[in-house]
Amino acid sequence: MVELGYLLAAVLFIGGLKGLTHPRSAVRGNITGSLGMLVAVVVVLLSQEILNLTLIVVGIALGSVVGAVLALTIKMTAMPQLVGLYNGFGGIASVLVAGAVLYQVLGIGAGSGGGTGAVASAGAGLQMLVATSASGLIGAVTFFGSLIAFGKLQGIVTEKPVRYPGEQVVKVLVAAAALVLAAMVVRTPEQIEYYWALAGIASLLGILLVMPIGGADMPIVIALLNSYSGLAAAATGFVLNNTVLIIAGSLVGASGIILTNIMCKAMNRSLANVLFGGVGAVQESAGTGDDIYEGRVKSTSAEEVAMILKSARSVVIVPGYGMAVARAQTPVRILTEALEGDDISVNFGIHPVAGRMPGHMNVLLAEENISYDKLKEMDQINPEFPNTDVAIVLGANDVVNPLARESSGSPISGMPILDVDKARTVVIIKRSLSPGFAGIPNPLFAADNTLMLFGDGKKVMEDLVGAYREA
Ligand code: TAP
Repeated sequence: MVELGYLLAAVLFIGGLKGLTHPRSAVRGNITGSLGMLVAVVVVLLSQEILNLTLIVVGIALGSVVGAVLALTIKMTAMPQLVGLYNGFGGIASVLVAGAVLYQVLGIGAGSGGGTGAVASAGAGLQMLVATSASGLIGAVTFFGSLIAFGKLQGIVTEKPVRYPGEQVVKVLVAAAALVLAAMVVRTPEQIEYYWALAGIASLLGILLVMPIGGADMPIVIALLNSYSGLAAAATGFVLNNTVLIIAGSLVGASGIILTNIMCKAMNRSLANVLFGGVGAVQESAGTGDDIYEGRVKSTSAEEVAMILKSARSVVIVPGYGMAVARAQTPVRILTEALEGDDISVNFGIHPVAGRMPGHMNVLLAEENISYDKLKEMDQINPEFPNTDVAIVLGANDVVNPLARESSGSPISGMPILDVDKARTVVIIKRSLSPGFAGIPNPLFAADNTLMLFGDGKKVMEDLVGAYREA
């Protein structure tokens, strides 16, 4: 019955992941996955000899309250760091559970049911010991790596890459020490201090691995740490001989690495480049935009843009991080409806890394019930730009920067972009000429067919809606 329960949970997890592959089925997928987790938790509670049910129930209640409050109050722009923290908690849970099982099997500590000495070692088979080592190593790297990633995104830890002479040598030495300790845990498990030394040195490794990476690359690091947290959970599944934990951990491990790969591809970066020499590291050499913009930027008004829109037949809106910060999606929807009311076709150009997390723009536009059919991916929309009358770039910068097409060695060089510059008129809505995430100037702001509409995204869009209605 227990294995059947786990099988049901696993099927629900996989069904949930499948649902998450499309916005239309995403809510259902989310519920399916959560149901899988509920089944798994209930089966564990019913099947195991629980030491103290009251403590577990209190734990579940506390966790539910904290989780619900976090989920309801977190700003959409802070989602990457929240996911980062969740990964970290998964990692530390693996370290503690594997450690606790080791104590139990070795019969150390009050109330433990295992044997001692040789008997205990026999109870702890090779598979279990290797899995325990892996849980301690990967889990601790994940926990401390995630804490640093969280700190960088939250502004608690410096966003700049922390580099020092001999950095790679230090990392290799610490990694080697962690591997030696992992081997010691397998060889002489009775000496439990090896396990905690392993967890300690792996924690240091987690910190050393993430500190040299710039804040700009943190979302990729978080996707990678997500994968690690899955691997740690799968290893703990082997420690506990728990099938559903092995399956769920493997699913997280695999999906995390796939996501990491998608993000790297969309930025035209290799994972090695992210981990060992990221955007932040080259940012400073990119210079300022004064020479590019000097006397060539044309500023416009909501009224002028409204007039241009009145005579347009096709409009493409390209949202970016600024739309998320300004929470401008409501006036975007209202303007879309007004334009469509006048038989003007409106589509959205969605870049895979627009914003700060995968699917960021899709989520915001879905909040406004904007039809998914209008959200066009880069490959779909790019051929349309030469036939587009007006491209409205709302708070996007790097994802439309033509410098990406040049092999100039700029941080975004080679990154595929949305070809908005090919539209007849480009209207860029942002507050200033400040650079985006990659910290480099954007020649699009000074292009002949570009008009800059300066201001906060939400306020400007509301003004534009008003001006369009009056025009
Ligand atoms: P960015 O290039 O970061 O540009 C966003 C622009 O929004 C800024 O230039 C800023 O200009 C403007 N802005 C900020 N607040 C605003 C407000 N209240 N109203 C109007 N505009 C506002 O954004 P993007 O084009 O979406 O590109 C995303 C970047 O993030 C890429 O470099 C990508 O590689 C990186 N990244 C993305 C991800 C994922 S998964 N999405 C992960 C890691 C890194 P002003 O200050 O002048 O207003």
